Amino acid sequence: MKVLVIGSGGREHALVWKLCQSPKVEKVFCVPGNGGMCDEAECLAGDLSNVQALADLAEKIGADLTVVGPEAPLVAGIADEFEKRELKIIGPRQAAAQLEGSKIFSKEFMKRHGIPTGDFVAVKSLEEATRSLADFEFPLVIKADGLAGGKGVQVVRTHEDAIRTLDVYMRQKTLGEAGERVILEEFLQGGEASFMVLTDGESVLPLAPSRDHKAAYDADQGPNTGGMGAYSEDRILSKDLYNRVQAEIVEPTFRGLAEENISYQGILYFGLMLTKEGPKLLEYNVRLGDPEAQPILMRLHTDLMELFEAVVEKRLGTVDPHWSPDPAICVVMSSRGYPAKPELDKQIQGIEEAEKVGGVKVFHAGTRLDDGHVITSGGRVLGVTAEAENLKAAFERAYEAVYRISFEGCHFRHDIGKKGILEEAPGGPGPG
Ligand code: AMP
Ligand code: GLY
Repeated sequence: MKVLVIGSGGREHALVWKLCQSPKVEKVFCVPGNGGMCDEAECLAGDLSNVQALADLAEKIGADLTVVGPEAPLVAGIADEFEKRELKIIGPRQAAAQLEGSKIFSKEFMKRHGIPTGDFVAVKSLEEATRSLADFEFPLVIKADGLAGGKGVQVVRTHEDAIRTLDVYMRQKTLGEAGERVILEEFLQGGEASFMVLTDGESVLPLAPSRDHKAAYDADQGPNTGGMGAYSEDRILSKDLYNRVQAEIVEPTFRGLAEENISYQGILYFGLMLTKEGPKLLEYNVRLGDPEAQPILMRLHTDLMELFEAVVEKRLGTVDPHWSPDPAICVVMSSRGYPAKPELDKQIQGIEEAEKVGGVKVFHAGTRLDDGHVITSGGRVLGVTAEAENLKAAFERAYEAVYRISFEGCHFRHDIGKKGILEEAPGGPGPG
């Protein structure tokens, strides 16, 4: 079968890598892809904001299945366009993609269906927002309604900070339309976890749990990013927490979707805060997390194509995927200046040496090839991912590989998975 993967990040490289391992897959295409995929996939040019052109491309190459990595094409209605043309695709339709495309839609959906989440108000003007600040304590979370590529959420600690953020979103409109409406949300405390499921619209198959590291610098300092690293291991959610997440968050979500006649096919991501009162939902994403996909797909021992086929054929309930018991860690190497203004076009050295470390795969994100050299072309450049028998060993492998790679201005966090290692230690703090 021929598969088309849409996107250009580390998540898409991991999808390509995993799909290439399938005996069912004859060829993988990626649009637009990146500098690391060329050995595994044929990279094609394409505009991700033009869903008709993407459907034309899928028809032209004869793709038997298309897998959508990022949210923007889903929010723009790529699944609807593909379905109209009877092209097979993994990803929800536009109406369902609103769960990520509009924070106001998703928070109101959570409220309608009794899904635990932080208290909030949705506001449409700067005046309304300023007035509503009186109803909240600090810190407070301000979220732009629309897609903002990870830049639409700010935790503010003072009234002045709040006014400044609201002014940037709503008057200066630095995020464009996405920031015209905002959510003011109660600040929640606890450990975060990413929990994703795959669904064919009837059955819901949980994927291995993971934990992202959103802040740019060590010890969760600095601005929020798309994710500076992630790890996946089963103990992120204890049995009890896992059952609560299922009963209080996942099941009510799918019941709510059914009640509102919104069909959902593809991946649904639950961004969780594990608070003292129990798990609460921060957000939905309508796709795999990046970088969470990298360690999760490394741990998946079942043929990914088999899972995707089961989704399009609506028989996901009959498959039972096998996961490695070993944890995996992905450390993101980013460009100097990320997330604000990454410096690009630096030559990267050492990737081959890094992959000689056992259990390591280097997933590319913001890279391109130039005359045989790998050059940086984005904020998040590489996702160095390692699997081992325990989290500490995976951590050591991942960082051994990271230190073999260099490019000018290279930045990475030194503590990806550290919290999990402390929890793993005898007598260490439990999850959350
Ligand atoms: P979101 O895109 O809504 O997941 O927000 C991005 C990040 O902001 C989350 O991963 C959290 O680290 C933080 N965040 C979002 N909402 C809250 C909240 N209500 N309380 C504390 N932190 C939050
Ligand atoms: N890593 C978080 C996300 O993909 O949104």
